[in-house]
Amino acid sequence: MTRESWTTRTGFILAAVGSAVGLGNVWRFPWMTAENGGSAFLLVYLALVLAVGVPGLLAEFVIGRRSRRNPVGALASLSDSDRWGVVGLLPVVTTVLLLSFYSVVGGWILRYLVASASGAYFDAPGPYFESVSFGPAAVGYHAVFLLLTAGIVLAGVRKGIELATKVMMPAIAALLVGLAAWAATLPGAAGGFEYFLAFDLGYLRANFASVLGAALGQALFTLSVGAGTMITYASYLGEDRSLPADGATIAVLNTLVGVVAGLVVFPLLFAGDLPVGGSGPGALFVSLASAFATLPGGRVVAVVFFAVMTLAALSSSISMLELPVAYLADEHGVARRDATAGLSALFLVLGAVNALRPAVFDFVASTLVDLLLAAGLLAFLLFAGWVLGRDAVEEFREGAGSLGDALATPWLFVVGVALPVFLIFTVITGVLGIAGVSLGTGAVVGLTAAAALAAFAALRRAGSVV
Ligand code: ALA
Repeated sequence: MTRESWTTRTGFILAAVGSAVGLGNVWRFPWMTAENGGSAFLLVYLALVLAVGVPGLLAEFVIGRRSRRNPVGALASLSDSDRWGVVGLLPVVTTVLLLSFYSVVGGWILRYLVASASGAYFDAPGPYFESVSFGPAAVGYHAVFLLLTAGIVLAGVRKGIELATKVMMPAIAALLVGLAAWAATLPGAAGGFEYFLAFDLGYLRANFASVLGAALGQALFTLSVGAGTMITYASYLGEDRSLPADGATIAVLNTLVGVVAGLVVFPLLFAGDLPVGGSGPGALFVSLASAFATLPGGRVVAVVFFAVMTLAALSSSISMLELPVAYLADEHGVARRDATAGLSALFLVLGAVNALRPAVFDFVASTLVDLLLAAGLLAFLLFAGWVLGRDAVEEFREGAGSLGDALATPWLFVVGVALPVFLIFTVITGVLGIAGVSLGTGAVVGLTAAAALAAFAALRRAGSVV
């Protein structure tokens, strides 16, 4: 079977931006921001996008383009070791869990798109969300969302993913800018902007560890880093691209969409004089729905808003399904059609569990996925830094001109040493949190140092090239 590749560089960039731009930017971001001190969160989040997200994205690109395989095959073939192939299964598990709840939220969005046209939730937004978010109807809408995702993936890399994102991404940009311009005219807009953009350093100082963990999780989630989807997309690349230039473009576009989405969401909430956060994933649906219900022209705006969200969600969910499809196709010779059908059946069931069990959904959507993304990224960074080493530098420089020459070595240090230590700290803190164990900062730092030294020593013993 010949492996497909992107038709154009723009095609690849738009597909990767599509994977990054999603519910993370519009739904999860305001919710996380509101739960973590408002604008204090934004500052840390932006710093982490730059310091961790972009180098991590480039590590995935380097692994994907060099191997031209899915994450399992990539790690196994580049290292010549099946043990790394087993590590490569981690992103397969992550994307499976990710899509299993993502598709449920995609279903909520579809439902709100339909309900906005009729104004079905306008009388009682809170009870409406309660009645539709979990249960058999949520399973039904999740199934429709999954079907749309599968339809695109089934058509292949060029005729499915590339074509779809070429249409979706410009549409998202145009509609979102239109919404932001309209939102800026609302009476409460100034309050919304202030809440979103004025940094609150006091909150940050008092809650640094928890803000850091949440901001890191969000930075990885929104860029689709750590899940291996970017390895998969980069595996369909030719040689002539500058990876650092593409990575920076993707990160900037994704962040812009996040900020513009904030410029829509927060003025809307303040215009409706509504609680900004509330807590939990449903808060945004309830608050925004209330705003749409009270504002003039709310119905039309609601339809546009949920149309944007639908496109954004689909452009991400297709990358999550593409990863396991590529794995089955590359490693087990399964035809795309059969892989897509079989995996869709699996996701139908897993999504149904999330749609019927709010406790499962909450755990998967926040804690578990954040932790798996951090663990996945840690594996990719160690792999790029210690197993690929000089090959990673060579791949990074390929097609990147003087920018590649200047950045390759500092990048290798960041991905091989600095970020792994930071991620080991975050993963240890996260696991302790899930286990309900509370240790002092000194003990966590000690554990981090011991784990980092052990990991680096093991990698050296295993014959890493640096
Ligand atoms: N990166 C995707 C999003 O932000 C997962 O929704």
